[in-house]
Amino acid sequence: MNKRYLYQTQAPISGELTIPGDKSISHRAVILGALACGETTITNFLNSDDCMRTVNIFRQLGVQIEQEQMTLYISSKGASSFSEPKQPLYLGNSGTTARLIVGVLAGLPMFITLYGDDFLTKRPMDRVTDPLQKMGATIDGRCNGRNLPLMIRGQQLQGITYRLPVKSAQVKSALLLAGLFAQGQTTVIEKEQTRDHTENMLKAFGAPIDIYGKKITIKAMKPLTATHINVPGDISSAAFFLTAAAIVPGSQLILRNIGLNKTRTGFLDILEQMNARFQIYNKQTVGGERFGDISITYHPLRATNVNHKVIPRLIDEIPLIALLATQAQGTTIIQNAEELRVKETDRISAVVHILSKLGANIEETVDGMIIRGPTPLKGAFVSAYHDHRMAMMIAIASLVAEGMVILDDDSSINISYPQFFEHLDQIVNPI
Ligand code: S3P
Repeated sequence: MNKRYLYQTQAPISGELTIPGDKSISHRAVILGALACGETTITNFLNSDDCMRTVNIFRQLGVQIEQEQMTLYISSKGASSFSEPKQPLYLGNSGTTARLIVGVLAGLPMFITLYGDDFLTKRPMDRVTDPLQKMGATIDGRCNGRNLPLMIRGQQLQGITYRLPVKSAQVKSALLLAGLFAQGQTTVIEKEQTRDHTENMLKAFGAPIDIYGKKITIKAMKPLTATHINVPGDISSAAFFLTAAAIVPGSQLILRNIGLNKTRTGFLDILEQMNARFQIYNKQTVGGERFGDISITYHPLRATNVNHKVIPRLIDEIPLIALLATQAQGTTIIQNAEELRVKETDRISAVVHILSKLGANIEETVDGMIIRGPTPLKGAFVSAYHDHRMAMMIAIASLVAEGMVILDDDSSINISYPQFFEHLDQIVNPI
């Protein structure tokens, strides 16, 4: 446990930051680079605990991966050259590694055991193992295959058409990756469009993928062709600083190199609805991924409603929307966000506990929360439930709290943003 005393300042924040690489894109670049034949280079890779889990898994499968700070060099002869690991593979806390890797391994001729930390071990895996079993996969695990550890005996898979019962990019991606090794074609139909980085990157690696709205079809392809992937900055990480500037009066901030993929920018739409003042410029597109710079200036916020279609486009930013709502005029209602209950922790219950303890007027509902604002926040000792996004949200909340906010443990932040406090220190000004 690494207890941390947070900021005791309500002074405006200011400055400029370049946001580290996107977590989702970094995972996918390693996976596809390992499946491809040749030399793949990944620049601006997110060097965090979660992404390194994916790297280490492929190293244990015999793929050569060299790292020089934020650049990865992957040299692979494709999946047929992978070797069966002698030991179980450790996934740490990483849900993305777990779900996507199961999709890859289900169709490869190997026996593999996967296990994770206590938190990941509680999260549902049947959302990927059920459809993979329909494709012919042999996977078993604790609680009737619902939870890790999982044991996979790779099999020849058959393509299927599958309607996703959950709004999850991880499940969609697992099935598309399994489709690369299945006979026939694999079609995934989404309920609501979720992040499409897997689809964009499969195209960049030359995979035969067709997309018609929410219906995505892939055919077998061995191996993919190596390429260069440049990872844009993670909008989910940028969202912490956007929130800080939106709630601390007088703030002004410039954030560079932010991923602006439409399936991820729901948070910006909500900021706009809440009357925040920001501008996007220097827009570019590389490898199917849009990115650009964002400048933001403090402006008083108003409440809003967040529901339905936008939810998958901002799922990881909902804790921050709740924090924004505590400082906004009026009642904010967040609905249809039931997926938050199966994240690193139950994020509906965690957000409500944390913000209530800090003095917010917030109420838990089955699939979201209701926040009445504005309310002044106060100091308290709070737990982040070993969830990186909770810990960073608490640090941002401390910027407007009167009195000392103490975080029980900041170590989870390494999961997605090891330089978070270094960056926050750069823009926080002493009173
Ligand atoms: C992710 C998808 C989302 C998101 C997670 C990363 C991904 O999870 O919450 O942080 O990289 O595909 P779900 O697929 O469970 O919604």
